Amino acid sequence: MKSRWYKDAVFYQIYPRSFKDSNGDGIGDIRGIIEKIDYLKGLGINAVWLSPVYMSPNDDNGYDISNYRDINPEFGTLEDWKEMIDKMHQNGIRLVMDLVVNHSSDEHQWFLESKKSKDNPYRNYYIWRPGKNNDGKKPPNNWTSRFGGSAWKYDQNTNEWYLHLFSEKQPDLNWENPAVRQEVVDICNYWLDLGVDGFRCDVITYISKANGLPDGKYNPILRGDEHFVAKPKIHEYLNQLNRESWSKYDTMIVGEAAGLTRKDAELLVSESRNEMDSVIEFELSLVDMKFNAIPVKLNLKKFKKIQSAWQNIPDDCWNTLFYENHDQPRSISRYGNEFGPFRKELAKMLAISYITLKGTPYIYQGQEIGMSNISLNPDEYADIMTKRIFQITKKFPPLYWLAKKVMKKVARDNARTPMQWSDGANADFSTSTPWFKLNPNYGDINVQAQLNNPNSILNFYKKIIDFRINNEILIKGSYKEYFPNHKRVYAFERAYEGKRFIIICNFKSDVVNLNCIDMNAMGAKLVLSNYANTAETFKNGMTLRAYEAFIYYIES
Ligand code: NOJ
Repeated sequence: MKSRWYKDAVFYQIYPRSFKDSNGDGIGDIRGIIEKIDYLKGLGINAVWLSPVYMSPNDDNGYDISNYRDINPEFGTLEDWKEMIDKMHQNGIRLVMDLVVNHSSDEHQWFLESKKSKDNPYRNYYIWRPGKNNDGKKPPNNWTSRFGGSAWKYDQNTNEWYLHLFSEKQPDLNWENPAVRQEVVDICNYWLDLGVDGFRCDVITYISKANGLPDGKYNPILRGDEHFVAKPKIHEYLNQLNRESWSKYDTMIVGEAAGLTRKDAELLVSESRNEMDSVIEFELSLVDMKFNAIPVKLNLKKFKKIQSAWQNIPDDCWNTLFYENHDQPRSISRYGNEFGPFRKELAKMLAISYITLKGTPYIYQGQEIGMSNISLNPDEYADIMTKRIFQITKKFPPLYWLAKKVMKKVARDNARTPMQWSDGANADFSTSTPWFKLNPNYGDINVQAQLNNPNSILNFYKKIIDFRINNEILIKGSYKEYFPNHKRVYAFERAYEGKRFIIICNFKSDVVNLNCIDMNAMGAKLVLSNYANTAETFKNGMTLRAYEAFIYYIES
């Protein structure tokens, strides 16, 4: 049944709350997406990953689902959703929905039942345990929630604790229970029957927990990981979903996979194993982070080493390529100087540096116009994770000071400011005040201005998307890195059946002279670059200006 269409695809991720509001309540919605399908078509993407639009009390902006089969009224109705998917399909755009089934909302009917009593038929849908110590007032183990604090919440009614690896309003589902797995199969089939083309599976690597839920090793932030990341029955569970649902349709399944090793990833995505098609992993996103949390200057050598290692995974595996999503800071703020004179070149160079790699590229809303991080006061942040970090650190002034500094750079809020459609009122995102602060730079950085400018970041994205889609060399070609020890330049080639693309990106704002003799590409012809006057023909000595990047083509 599988055509593996995703290998040709370029994805666009929509975070619906911040994409486009159609009814003037300040919250992005499905009819807003419908209005912008022509824009997406014009951009040239052919698949969308839509972050959750299901019923939810929004403790974690929709990643806490209270009804898996219906649409949150603030986003619209199921009828709106059907119109949206139809219009996407008519325009050659596939739709991949978020599947959030490591946990549900605590307001889901299953959990409301589960907490009623120990013998409720739904009790075993979640992970309940008695506490430690004689009075049971100590959590069952030392695991921490990814949002900080213990991963357990005490329930007075039944004198037991339930596990929540995210907020206490996101209780973890118990995948040991076959009834839970059957529910997930049914949910997948429900949406697949309605026409969706696949799922992005939220924190799917956490679904199987180690027997006995043992204490984790000491780690002040992410304690317990070694007992639930890709552990022990995950393959059996995914295999069941694949067999009973995903493989019956022409799907693409991409799993969000924090904390995964490459070996684990291969086991999850190797085609012969019938589990998932690819994973979104975060090794690259952590390369400029100390202790997984504190941003440090990018070390390009390490960055390239990771990129190359993933590019060299076995041929029956497949990668996802991304710099941004709704949990990551904006790439032009992260990897270069967004305030300098070369911000456009920077944004375009970043696009070349990953969209030409092997795998399926993902572009996050706003990335295509170079949206950047936002500067907020502590009380302006809206994300549960940021708020929790401030709440925890507030009692310790030096830590609070550090948290404020760090959050400016890495808070998830940076990616969640409303989409900047024009320089008009509310950036044309909404007719009323948006649910979350607009980045004040929308007067300069917006879609409308860029549509009309042939040299804009947006028009560059259109070019590179068009170049990537259906390009045999980029889809099937081999990957070879050059100058791995160079601290400023990322250079590689993609080759297929005697045809080669030579791709070189200057990650810094200083000029670089490069001896390219080893690339054996003298005479190659220019295909694309982020400067207007890059040399038409490749030479053995190349000079790269600030953030300059180019692609040359040669047959040999
Ligand atoms: C990963 C999602 O991308 C993130 O936004 C969410 O908070 C967690 N999973 C929990 O669902």
